Amino acid sequence: MKGLILSGGFGTRLRPLTYTSAKQLIPIANKPIIFYGIESLVNAGIKEIGIVVGETKEEVKNTVGDGSRWNIRIEYIYQPVPLGLAHAIKISYDFLKDESFIMYLGDNILKEGVNEFVEKFKRLQPDAFILLTEVNNPQEFGVAVVDESGAVKRLIEKPKEPPSNLALVGVYLFNKNVFTAIEHIKPSWRNELEITDAIQWLLDNNYQVLSDRVKGWWKDTGKPEDIIEANLLILEDIEPLNQGTLIDTVMNGRLVIGKGTKIEKSVIRGPAVIGDNVFIRNAFIGPFTSVGNNVIIENSEVECSVIMEGAKIFNLNKRIDRSIIGKNVVINQTNTSPRSHRFYLGDQSFVEIVE
Ligand code: G1P
Repeated sequence: MKGLILSGGFGTRLRPLTYTSAKQLIPIANKPIIFYGIESLVNAGIKEIGIVVGETKEEVKNTVGDGSRWNIRIEYIYQPVPLGLAHAIKISYDFLKDESFIMYLGDNILKEGVNEFVEKFKRLQPDAFILLTEVNNPQEFGVAVVDESGAVKRLIEKPKEPPSNLALVGVYLFNKNVFTAIEHIKPSWRNELEITDAIQWLLDNNYQVLSDRVKGWWKDTGKPEDIIEANLLILEDIEPLNQGTLIDTVMNGRLVIGKGTKIEKSVIRGPAVIGDNVFIRNAFIGPFTSVGNNVIIENSEVECSVIMEGAKIFNLNKRIDRSIIGKNVVINQTNTSPRSHRFYLGDQSFVEIVE
């Protein structure tokens, strides 16, 4: 069985971060989101993965590599325009051939991985196998209608009036018949070949579509608040490891602290991950915070946030909370007059000052 991970798309809801980085490379607990998907497939015994890439292909390739770090083979498939999930499968035929495969959306994270579903698909050999979970906002997802026995009856992509609260999770298993389905569907109103339409075609033509419920949490990291939430969920399970130097510092809870990192006169309250070569002084790092490599934090407090590589935070008299700070961002507070805010913000940046 092969793996197909989708890592294209524009990530518009994560701008400005996605102006300079693929959304699948945004770090969660200091690890690119897409690594969680790759590792789920590797744990399920998949040895060959095709990654569908778009305009951020070089960056994805440079970060992920050829798969040797996981002892697998990774191949890249270029999708010049994001024309839908079913389109991504269609253009991957040369890689997939007639083999069964698991498609994994590169911005999804599942706590319990996919082993159980791969094993079930192999045992029951349906034409398609989908994963469902209850959500509060079904209009933002593909939605499934199932009968009392759990059999899938109908699928609709982002319905205005959802017929159920069962969302399609971004993990799908197929055999080669999905290619026949894709040949028969037309682009949707958003001009995409929707995978939900391809699965609906399989249902309408008496192919077998099975479903299962996701156990443990699932996160589609499409929006800023999802990144914060995914970071929080991943940090809940971290294995503590301290490789840094701590002076006059109080540590509580589970903490990962990287090499070359120096922390002075601070309080670090886990769960939190702090990268390599970080410098922290007179600071409070609160629970559910990830601090990337080479960050400097002085005279400031940070909690429940993702602080990316090279950021510098100085002298803030108020705590940073539930925030995402991009690479090499500088935030400083001074006492000089006139009292003012001074911003150099990229397009679509977001600032909220809570008094
Ligand atoms: C895609 C699918 C949708 C599914 C979701 C899961 O939506 O089209 O059916 O529920 O992934 O993450 P997108 O993230 O492209 O809006």
